[in-house]
Amino acid sequence: MFYRRVFYGLLSDHKLEDVKAMYSKLFYLIIATFAVSILIVLYYSSLQSEEIYMKLIEEHEEHDNEPSNNDLPQKLYDIDFKYVLNNKSLCTADTQTLILVTSYFGNVETRSAMRRAFTREELANMNIKRAFLLGVAPTDKYTSQKAVQDESKRFGDIIQGNFIEAYRNLTYKHTMGLRWVEQHCSNAKFVIKMDDDIVVNIERIPKLLKSLQVPSAKNYIAGYVLRNMVPIREPANKWFVTEDEYDLDAYPPFVSGWFYVTNPYTCSNLFNVSQTTKYFWIDDTLITGILAQKLNIRHVDIKANFTLHSEILECCIKDIQLKNLRCDILVGPNGGNNNLFYEFNTAVGICNLNLCSERTLPLDKTCIVERKEVLGRGNPVIENYKLS
Ligand SMILES: *[C@@H]1O[C@H](CO)[C@@H](O)[C@H](O)[C@H]1NC(C)=O
Ligand SMILES: *[C@@H]1O[C@H](CO)[C@@H](O)[C@H](O)[C@H]1NC(C)=O
Ligand SMILES: *[C@@H]1O[C@H](CO)[C@@H](O)[C@H](O)[C@H]1NC(C)=O
Ligand SMILES: *[C@@H]1O[C@H](CO)[C@@H](O)[C@H](O)[C@H]1NC(C)=O
Repeated sequence: MFYRRVFYGLLSDHKLEDVKAMYSKLFYLIIATFAVSILIVLYYSSLQSEEIYMKLIEEHEEHDNEPSNNDLPQKLYDIDFKYVLNNKSLCTADTQTLILVTSYFGNVETRSAMRRAFTREELANMNIKRAFLLGVAPTDKYTSQKAVQDESKRFGDIIQGNFIEAYRNLTYKHTMGLRWVEQHCSNAKFVIKMDDDIVVNIERIPKLLKSLQVPSAKNYIAGYVLRNMVPIREPANKWFVTEDEYDLDAYPPFVSGWFYVTNPYTCSNLFNVSQTTKYFWIDDTLITGILAQKLNIRHVDIKANFTLHSEILECCIKDIQLKNLRCDILVGPNGGNNNLFYEFNTAVGICNLNLCSERTLPLDKTCIVERKEVLGRGNPVIENYKLS
């Protein structure tokens, strides 16, 4: 009350009642100003939370930062690239095969299903290393950066870049993978790039790689080859490509990003030409098509080892469980079932122990599917199976 009295005393020629009224007005004005400032601060901090989050990521990332004497460019196309999470010692001298899995930040379940099917120790016994390629997703509803950090600490198999997760950003992710191979896994013999919604018969991979006779110091890409694909020019289509993005009438041959086989030499060359090529968001078309064409790469077609239908994989599982019939499919889509990777590998594991018998009828004669699959990111590939 001391201040009040001094205040009154200083204004002694005003009537006490006026001063009281003035004081209470001033008091409410101060309170209101204070409340409004709080609201403004809250509003801006919510606007900037993404920036703050990115700063946190940058701070965190300094522990595991690139060496400063790194002579590789720090740019992926137009972004200043940084690893948010990395394991530089994932590949070792005896690593033969590196499997890069492009995985959406929030697909925690998918990653655990894949780790459940094959632990890193089981993969290491086959001289295989597996890394998941992620971006950042500050607004993801299902998981947080903190949880992904813990996941990375626990499994040591996450490579995360500082670009936001988005369909149109997949090229950053794919290019990050190429760059990572160049920096941290250049002594592997084989590199497999796959998506996290793809099922692969892992135990048959060494046999596939052996049969492919992948060279070590020559450019090489083997996969499901897509030819004569054309850009979709209808604006309503999810896969709409503007003339600005890609101006030719057809794409060069490319392989599906579902699963393809290459080597570190090719990854390094693809990364190097990416530095002087315009960004294009359809990642498999750009990297295994447009960039590969600049390097004169001829693709090796292994579509015979693919199925385009998750139902075929389900038929395989049933045929093994009921009749111990062999399944020759190595790669197929999971059809939205995160556990199919695990279920399929558990089933074919029986056959990999030579406990299965040859089929008398081919799979496509006993398993009926008739459906369109979007394999080439927007270009439907039609494959019909009918009863004979
Ligand atoms: C990196 O990966 C290797 C090989 O899988 C593993 O032994 C090591 O613990 C991982 N490092 C970190 C920091 O997670
Ligand atoms: C792609 O990532 C960049 C860099 O993080 C970001 O600025 C951009 O908004 C992202 N694109 C989309 C479509 O989210
Ligand atoms: C891939 O498919 C071809 C053709 O059907 C077959 O000969 C080969 O054995 C398959 N590879 C593996 C590893 O199953
Ligand atoms: C790609 O560029 C880097 C840096 O200039 C170089 O060290 C590397 O040898 C190049 N890759 C190939 C395969 O030529």
